[in-house]
Amino acid sequence: MKTLEPLEIGPLILRAFREDDAQEVQTLAGDFEVADTTARIPHPYEDGLAEAWIEGQAKEREEGREVVFAIEEVASNRLVGAIGLVLGPQAHSAEVGYWIGKPFWNQGYATLALKGVLGFAFQTLGLERVYAHHMTRNAASGRVMEKAGMSYEGLSPKHFERWGKLEDIAFYGMLRESWRDDG
Ligand SMILES: CC(C)(COP(=O)(O)OP(=O)(O)OC[C@H]1O[C@@H](n2cnc3c(N)ncnc32)[C@H](O)[C@@H]1OP(=O)(O)O)[C@@H](O)C(=O)NCCC(=O)NCCS
Repeated sequence: MKTLEPLEIGPLILRAFREDDAQEVQTLAGDFEVADTTARIPHPYEDGLAEAWIEGQAKEREEGREVVFAIEEVASNRLVGAIGLVLGPQAHSAEVGYWIGKPFWNQGYATLALKGVLGFAFQTLGLERVYAHHMTRNAASGRVMEKAGMSYEGLSPKHFERWGKLEDIAFYGMLRESWRDDG
């Protein structure tokens, strides 16, 4: 996919990242409370990482590996977070992952963004399945998956190591036939 059309979802717009988002990415993702419950965000978040991450996104998208959206608050034009799909090898399925900057938590933004990206995955990309996982200690993310209509698929104890500790992981998924466009 060469270009990424913006998706309008109520108070949010999901769009491709731009170079000038890098500083805000570093600030928001640089908060340990945001990195802590993700699988991959490093801490500390070194200078240059956000620029490199943003720069690599077009190639990942064009080569069909990953599609990442910046989540922007329309009223303030502020970047609030990120949401992305990592595509499986046959492009029938994808894993979705997301983070929201701490100043914007608990306003329903992750849920809205996830609903928007599920629609994009099933309608635009024509995927059959989207799945996600969260650390069991990250109940807010499980709630987001439930509110977006994903189904609980099971628990994987001690699934991976993060910050030197083994994490129990809960899996959620949605099949194309279960997806409903409820606006
Ligand atoms: C998890 C995260 C994405 C949630 O984003 P958000 O925009 O605040 O999510 P929403 O507002 O859409 O929904 C949050 C829900 O979790 C609930 N919640 C918040 N903190 C909670 C907690 N400690 N325990 C249980 N539920 C909690 C909220 O009440 C809300 O549910 P409700 O609408 O039923 O009241 C955000 O906290 C985040 O980015 N965390 C760090 C990165 C991360 O964990 N990413 C996900 C990796 S799987």
